[in-house]
Amino acid sequence: MSRIAYVNGSYLPHRQAAVHIEDRGYQLSDGVYEVCEISDGYILDMTGHLDRLGRSLSELRIAWPVHRSALVTIMKEVVRRNRIRDGIVYIQVTRGVAPRDHAFPTHPVAPALVVTTKRLDRSKLDARRRDGISVITLPENRWERVDIKTVSLIGNVLARQAAVEAGAGEAWYVAPDGTVTEGSASNAWIVTMDGEIITRPANDHSILRGITRATTMRVAERLGLRIVERPFTVAEALAAREAFITSATSRVTPVIMIDGQPIANGRPGSVSQSLGEAFFDIAEKTPA
Ligand code: PDD
Repeated sequence: MSRIAYVNGSYLPHRQAAVHIEDRGYQLSDGVYEVCEISDGYILDMTGHLDRLGRSLSELRIAWPVHRSALVTIMKEVVRRNRIRDGIVYIQVTRGVAPRDHAFPTHPVAPALVVTTKRLDRSKLDARRRDGISVITLPENRWERVDIKTVSLIGNVLARQAAVEAGAGEAWYVAPDGTVTEGSASNAWIVTMDGEIITRPANDHSILRGITRATTMRVAERLGLRIVERPFTVAEALAAREAFITSATSRVTPVIMIDGQPIANGRPGSVSQSLGEAFFDIAEKTPA
């Protein structure tokens, strides 16, 4: 069965789906995106992802390309046409097509919308979430508005490539004050020796306001676990009982090593495991 993508009003075979060469997303990274996990035929936390899409669009002064309810219909239709039960649905909105100029087009331009979906291997996802990953640390080198989920991801691309080349699963950015901001495509957490779950506050512009992060907080509350929102340093992470990352599809993935040094006994910890196990039940589930 061939893959189907949605591009600006049409459902097309993936191979034929294309955007204009003067799409501002292609030339200037002038656009935003979202990634939702699909699990067991449900889109997880769709409301949170669409709320954040709306915020990203408004921060960049891009209009919704279609009404929000129409976007939901398109997302479900793309998932349905591709018969995806486990994977992701990807939404990208750019400012549209216009002759190249850094400033916004002066004449009205319709925002461009692409929706795609990808099947992911359930057993591989489960294995990664169970076994955990290593991370490396790198100096934070991105712009100051990483709270906006823009497609300008070159810093994140280079960080993740550095992780891959080091045999790690993720790279954690470290701010000049020594605190961890977030991963190249995930939020960062530790569990202290006292059992406190620590993650950086998401009320400024220094990290993405992760939707999985928010759901993980609800899971922790349900399990009676204490979360403290404050920045933590790499030294604290190395002395922690556990560490983990959160993101769509990673959900709660244990971090077992940082820069080649094991966290505690170098095995996934019980807090990350409990959070991960309860995650699906507590996440919002929209039938695709
Ligand atoms: N990335 N921080 C960054 C920089 C991210 O790119 C992501 C997600 C997150 C976690 O956000 P959420 O929990 O809403 O997925 C944090 C997605 C998965 C991606 O770019 O593929």
